[in-house]
Amino acid sequence: MSASSRHVVITGFMGAGKTTVARALARKIFCAVIDLDDLIRERTGRTPQEIIDEDGEHAFREHEGEALRATLETSEPCVIALGGGAWIIESNRALVNKHEAFTVWLDAPFELCWRRVTGANIQRPFARDREKAILLYDKRREFYAQATLRVEVSEGKDPETVAAEIVCMLSEVAIKMNENLRN
Ligand code: S3P
Repeated sequence: MSASSRHVVITGFMGAGKTTVARALARKIFCAVIDLDDLIRERTGRTPQEIIDEDGEHAFREHEGEALRATLETSEPCVIALGGGAWIIESNRALVNKHEAFTVWLDAPFELCWRRVTGANIQRPFARDREKAILLYDKRREFYAQATLRVEVSEGKDPETVAAEIVCMLSEVAIKMNENLRN
């Protein structure tokens, strides 16, 4: 499979900037962008928050897995912004890897994520308690680290810069893939 025919999947903790960076990246590489949480909202008529609060996390993860599968299977190569917990589920990682997508971890410090999630006007069920959120952040890092690429996100670094870094990394990977194909 050539580099340009692959999806690019963006992962990272809540508040890492997945949606914004995914949009900026899609503009730069001229493809569509799909935000998994938005897609779940379209498919179910409810927000992830509502689903988690009303039906529980397990039900939400099922919707999430289905939305991811549908996107990977049916859409043209695009940029997919995951919700912060999607990449933690083994079957989702397996699905993404089966489709040979490029995976990118936006590695942002906890304090930055926390400031963003508490400052946002949407309520996140897994960001209601700071101590619990720190535990979740620490627990999830080993899974995020399984993404193929890691990009550091910091306070002063804007989404356009992060997206530009990803473009550079993706072209390096694509060049290596082409070299391997030739040899
Ligand atoms: C979740 C993150 C949320 C959303 C849901 C669960 C998580 O997405 O999918 O509330 O488990 O971390 P964002 O990472 O976009 O906030």
